[in-house]
Amino acid sequence: MLFCTLRGVKVKGFVINGQNPLSGEIHIQGSKNSVLPVLAATVLAKGESVIHNCPRITDVDSAVKILKLLGCKVKREGRTLTINSDCINSYKIPDRLMREMRSSVMFLGAILGRTGKAVLSTPGGCEIGLRPIDLHISALKQMGVCFDSGAGRLEFQVQKTLKGAKISLAFPSVGATENILLAACTAKGTTTIINAAREPEIADLADFLNKCGARIKRAGESVITVEGVNELHAAEHRVIPDRIVAASYLIAAAVAKGNICIKDIIPEHLCSVAPVLKATGCELTAGEKEIKLLAPQRLNSIRLLRTAPYPGFPTDLQAPVTAALCVADGTSVVVENIFESRYRYACELLRFGAVIHVKGRKAVIEGAKSLNAACVHATDLRGGFAMITAALAANGKSCIYNTEHIDRGYESPELYLNELGADIKRIQSNG
Ligand code: UD1
Repeated sequence: MLFCTLRGVKVKGFVINGQNPLSGEIHIQGSKNSVLPVLAATVLAKGESVIHNCPRITDVDSAVKILKLLGCKVKREGRTLTINSDCINSYKIPDRLMREMRSSVMFLGAILGRTGKAVLSTPGGCEIGLRPIDLHISALKQMGVCFDSGAGRLEFQVQKTLKGAKISLAFPSVGATENILLAACTAKGTTTIINAAREPEIADLADFLNKCGARIKRAGESVITVEGVNELHAAEHRVIPDRIVAASYLIAAAVAKGNICIKDIIPEHLCSVAPVLKATGCELTAGEKEIKLLAPQRLNSIRLLRTAPYPGFPTDLQAPVTAALCVADGTSVVVENIFESRYRYACELLRFGAVIHVKGRKAVIEGAKSLNAACVHATDLRGGFAMITAALAANGKSCIYNTEHIDRGYESPELYLNELGADIKRIQSNG
């Protein structure tokens, strides 16, 4: 199949020649969902913070743009970022950056803690759902923040001082937990978060904040307490490995008759993923900082897989795993419990000849013996990796467009997968 170009239009994409067995070992990048809140936290910590293991992804580039707009000096050397936040002179994140990276909202708690006010634009919905920020706003109000909105602007102003509060989250939102933690560090008094998110990235953020002088206890558990301090100072930190990227490559290897080892990971962070891969017939062996996977000739189907907040099966892996189940032996059922419209990519999988029926939050996948090569679009970050997964399993040459979504969270996936024996080329054509 030819890679299609659109006349006069810049086309970015991958061309993947499928069905090459994957083998060998790769080292896993730093976590996107850790590095973003940690970079936001450097706004709170006066002085020069040094953050290691920052992945080379476009979401990090967007976070750096925000830091610079706020007045920080940022230096990059390889995967290390040095951020000096002594001269913060703005409290606004412009609309274009809010649109570029929806998780810009996690700068909110840090900006408020540092400057006492913040102006953002409404983040709005995205490819995977509405993604409101009502839990963030309600928590900040309880901490003494006035909120006003109009004409797409969200304005926040601390009344007198940020104050500690007992905040009970209706849902363990990752972003809301992070914003509360950031705001609570320099609030007056103690903040307790009940029903906090327990994702490892929360504990990593708290680890960095504690190095900066914060007093956060039990991050990673459902109830977190933060004793406010007067101010934070800069610190050095190494971001944890990306468990979602690690699991994505394991899933890719599972469909590509793989025999691979992924290194520099924290195996416990894959506690809900390993049993699912084992149920599909993969053999997994965990070492201290690595996991080996040996794939079967054909994957078993999964009777029922539900996404859930950590330590449940991550919503971020729902798309790649669904793609893998398209070639499993039998019928699988996947239920998405976190985001209301996270199946947009499923239409693209149909182009490979996959058989998927989606109704509301439920997808029923009838495993096919093989998939055919196809030309498809990445609809979002993880949906994009689902396209890579399907293309690796498909017979022939597939092309994937809109790969800028994939670059938001996966550092050069073509290099990592080619290292394992895949055949992927990155294409940029001007028509
Ligand atoms: C984070 C992750 C994302 C992951 C998600 C769930 C980052 C940068 N992103 O996103 O990769 O998929 O956690 O694990 O860390 N909600 C509300 N009101 C709110 C906040 C959230 O209704 O104020 C809802 C959301 O619409 C969604 C659910 O809660 O349905 C989970 O969202 P949340 O945990 O906040 O996800 P994010 O922090 O946006």
